[in-house]
Amino acid sequence: MRPSSLLYLAAAFAPLSLAFAQNVRATGKINEFYAQNCVNCHGAKLEGGVTPANNKVPSLLSEQFLHGNDDESIAKSIKNGYPEKEMPAWGAVLSDKDIRSMVIYIREQQFLFKRGQVKIEKLADSFDGKSQVHSFHVDTWVGDLVEPWSLAFLGANKAIVTEKLGYAYLIDNGKRAARPLIGVPAVDTGGQAGLLDVVPHPDYAKNGWIYFAFSDPQTRDGQPVSLTRIIRGKIKGNALVEQQTIFQAPVEMYPKAGGVHFGGRIAFDGKGHVFFTIGERGTGTNAQNLGVAMGKVHRLNDDGTVPADNPFAKDPKALPSIWSYGHRNPQGLAIHPGTGDLYDLEHGPRGGDEANLVLAGRNYGWPVITYGMDYPGTPMPGSEGTAKAGMEQPVTYWLPSIAPCGASFYSGDLFPKWKNSLFVASLAAKELRRLEIEGNKLVSQEVIFKGETDSNRIRHVIGGPDGALYVLFRERIARLTPAN
Ligand code: HEC
Repeated sequence: MRPSSLLYLAAAFAPLSLAFAQNVRATGKINEFYAQNCVNCHGAKLEGGVTPANNKVPSLLSEQFLHGNDDESIAKSIKNGYPEKEMPAWGAVLSDKDIRSMVIYIREQQFLFKRGQVKIEKLADSFDGKSQVHSFHVDTWVGDLVEPWSLAFLGANKAIVTEKLGYAYLIDNGKRAARPLIGVPAVDTGGQAGLLDVVPHPDYAKNGWIYFAFSDPQTRDGQPVSLTRIIRGKIKGNALVEQQTIFQAPVEMYPKAGGVHFGGRIAFDGKGHVFFTIGERGTGTNAQNLGVAMGKVHRLNDDGTVPADNPFAKDPKALPSIWSYGHRNPQGLAIHPGTGDLYDLEHGPRGGDEANLVLAGRNYGWPVITYGMDYPGTPMPGSEGTAKAGMEQPVTYWLPSIAPCGASFYSGDLFPKWKNSLFVASLAAKELRRLEIEGNKLVSQEVIFKGETDSNRIRHVIGGPDGALYVLFRERIARLTPAN
């Protein structure tokens, strides 16, 4: 920056930076910083305006930014400013992390503005929709459920659904059993805890094994504690029998019961391994600690033994089941049917949700790097920015957050042009997304449909043996078939 403009700025904005200094000491919240330092020019609603010297101030809600629409360009504008047009350079008062928070804030406001412009209908139980390459029809397949968490097909007409509150039901020809499966383990249901994933072994037809993930309630020193545990069992009549534990962390490692971030997804690679996720349980440092089970993707042989070629199998300080680390709350896990690549979807903090290509031994960065900020609008404590050597970048991240949950690659025949697309369920945004991914690259992305009310929160999506897509809403499972 030219010295003359520096002087000019100092004179023009001394009161503003003073206000900022106080604000940062008081709360550091980015919306307050905007209100004190940007509003005069960019407007209370980010709508733009004019500067004291009558320069035109662009709207920050625009689809077409003067200096680039991507996050990096916006951050650069804020950092370096355009002093010749009276846009101050904020790099002296705002750290890169603060600037990142401001970009997130601008993205959220853009989203709210756009959302205010379109009327989003409450999704009907039955409706038709159009995506980029297929038209589809949505109908209720199984209703009368309470927070279904996962669905697995056990044959052409047989399925099993789990509910967060600890029930699993068999489904026969689209009809849910009147009574829940007997013998499902007791689960912690506090906060985000519950009965989580259910996935049959790839050779289920031969061996009958079904795998479950759940929040395992234990007591330690008289206090209730819980953590994600993986078991398998077989169905006999309406009961789960022959149960075996596949993974259970030592109870000394269990955090306080209830609370957040259990992970709890399971995926098979078809080569004798089972992958599963455990969230960091609300303690970011867990994710970087190889000595604990939290904040990791794990890999075991399908009988629970440790594969000899696991990346940390020979590290005496690490849990041998760990496949990758630095994860926050991975609630989606999917294997590409063509390449065998493993992807996870994880809830980040505000603005930091990620899709990752998950590779052996890699560090996915949480909480050291993140694209998000803390919920009050302050930088994540302890975070060092969005990238760091030795830590992986996501395939994509969502800003604002959509709260991605279950995900599956489509491999059916009913929607030929959706083959190998990754479908992603979202809770907060209440939408179903379709991603085309090649390796570590996002090729395209679209919203298939979007709901409005809490009953449209989507927990999971999987393809059925009939080629239809099954979507788990809050109270029902819907079925997507081609529209005629
Ligand atoms: C004194 C007036 C003024 C203030 C205060 C101000 N801006 Fe600006 N801002 C401008 C002007 C004028 C431009 C357009 C520059 C140009 O025409 O190249 C601009 C441009 C920008 C751009 C780039 C927009 C685009 O279309 O590429 C961003 C982002 C931005 N400002 C963010 C902020 C933020 C965040 C704050 C508060 C921390 C802020 N501005 C405070 C006047 C201001």
